[in-house]
Amino acid sequence: MVKHNVYGNTDGIRDALLTKLDAMYQYELAEGEYLPRELMRLLAAYSCQLNREIAVYMTRDGEIVHVAVGTDCDVELVDFRLRRNARRLSRIRCVHTHPDGDGHLSDVDLSALKIFRYDAMTAVGVANGEPTIVQTAFLTSEKDILMPEPVRWYSIPDQEWLAQIEQSDLLVGTEETAQVSDGPEKAVLMGIESMESLEELRRLAETAGAQVVGSFLQNRSRPDGALFIGRGRAEELARECQALDADLCILDEELTGIQTRNLEDVLRVKVIDRTTLILDIFAQRASSAEGKLQVELAQLQYQSTRLIGQGLVLSRLAGGIGTRGPGESQLEMNRRRIRERMTELRRRLEEVEKQRDIRRKSREKNGTPVVALVGYTNSGKSTLLNTLTGSEVYAQDQLFATLDAVSRRMETPEKTAYLLVDTVGFIRKLPHTLVSAFRSTLEEAALADVLVIVNDGASPDMTRQHDTVEQVLNDLGATEQTRIEAVNKCDIADPWPSFPGAVMISAKTGAGLEELKRRIADALQASYAPVTFVVPFEHYGLLSQIRPLGRVITEQYTDTGAELTIVLSHEDAGRMLRLHGQKIQLKT
Ligand code: GTP
Repeated sequence: MVKHNVYGNTDGIRDALLTKLDAMYQYELAEGEYLPRELMRLLAAYSCQLNREIAVYMTRDGEIVHVAVGTDCDVELVDFRLRRNARRLSRIRCVHTHPDGDGHLSDVDLSALKIFRYDAMTAVGVANGEPTIVQTAFLTSEKDILMPEPVRWYSIPDQEWLAQIEQSDLLVGTEETAQVSDGPEKAVLMGIESMESLEELRRLAETAGAQVVGSFLQNRSRPDGALFIGRGRAEELARECQALDADLCILDEELTGIQTRNLEDVLRVKVIDRTTLILDIFAQRASSAEGKLQVELAQLQYQSTRLIGQGLVLSRLAGGIGTRGPGESQLEMNRRRIRERMTELRRRLEEVEKQRDIRRKSREKNGTPVVALVGYTNSGKSTLLNTLTGSEVYAQDQLFATLDAVSRRMETPEKTAYLLVDTVGFIRKLPHTLVSAFRSTLEEAALADVLVIVNDGASPDMTRQHDTVEQVLNDLGATEQTRIEAVNKCDIADPWPSFPGAVMISAKTGAGLEELKRRIADALQASYAPVTFVVPFEHYGLLSQIRPLGRVITEQYTDTGAELTIVLSHEDAGRMLRLHGQKIQLKT
């Protein structure tokens, strides 16, 4: 059976008609349009066919977010308000049919307008399958309503009504707006996997600025299709949210748009999932131009797959966690705007990536090897980079403190220069949209010559975190390089972590860092070493081919030719000898 998104009294309605009603979600209103004539005709035709009222709800951005069928004399009116800003207009207007031909708004319609604070309430009279007259009412204060006379359906004053909505918004409860951002949002967490994962969700929520007021774990092998956690549990959770005075509920999994929306209906608070939370943190953290583009693209990608059925209605209107973005205002973008913006972002990213590619190529040309610090978020990568290089990189006891790859120049005792790169932290269930959006940044790690995997020795979850890091590295195709395992935070690790073969370090106290540097130097030495070529003067031309491949240490001239000592990768040294072995010699 096909799954439909039409709400209310759908009993006995044929699949074909439900599909037509479903198609209304695809409607995109043009700018300046209050209610398209074509949509009115469709509503009238279907309403007449069913002899039932039909209601559609649309956002200020002209997107249809809810379609419901009622009886011949009423239709379920939906409350889109949120606890946090319950006194403001809901930013949604309700348009519904009156199949008895009378387009006047009823008392019930007007009281719903007041209670649910719709942007506007519109009734479309229907007779013989055609629209007749249309009436719209607006709030002008807490209690007062402005209700112009009904107009013929084909001459509704779109511009005027849209302008009135803006006007009403100014008149109703503006001082309440400030309340939205007052204090941290109170969050209730709901997990279905494990306590560890839920604990991590708590840290994520706190990093995003929420105050966690409750967390619950339900072991459920198979998620419920409609609500994810099952109706009984959802109803219980609704009571818990209410008792804890929560503003939002965060689920420790990825939800579909419909699940989010259904859950919001039951819980009556904003609902977001783990991915949205992580994206929100990334949105706040992104500081470079590239990082911002990547995060915005990831957010839009995630949103665009969740628009149908409109899970994000409430969350997007609510403000706060889950709605913040680095780009232009993300609130209420419709599908078309999202598509356009995504194309634009991709184009700009491609340009930035081209630049990065040029930089990377020039680095390769210089032959400077790259050592990347990779590891789970909060394992201490930035602190390690700071201690090793004596620099100041943002390190904080928060998840994802670093988003942009930071690099510093270092040298081994043998004078091989290398770049030490700090990378974005990994995390379990790292959203796929993020991995793809951050691919080029993460590839810094994938392309590094040596990987130092920084493990958090103070975390009881170290082994699981290590598995995640392995997984992400595999996904990125970073499987070839030499890996050095380091267990960090040994100064506070209790019990002493067991990780055979790893270097035990403390980025804070400096313990074990000499050993780590030694291992890095050895790993580089294994693939990069100084070599001395003897180039006879008749082949001096080759010098200009060899020099750019690595870092020149000395260049001396003798009677027979030049002696060039240069740090080269084994690969390049071998290639030079294969190509020019008859002309140049390796001095041992
Ligand atoms: P992301 O940016 O999230 O990937 O984090 P990160 O891996 O860069 O971690 P960061 O360096 O920001 O460190 C996280 C927290 O761990 C900070 O509060 C550090 O002070 C602390 N920390 C890092 N290394 C050590 C250590 O060796 N010992 C102790 N006791 N704390 C450490």
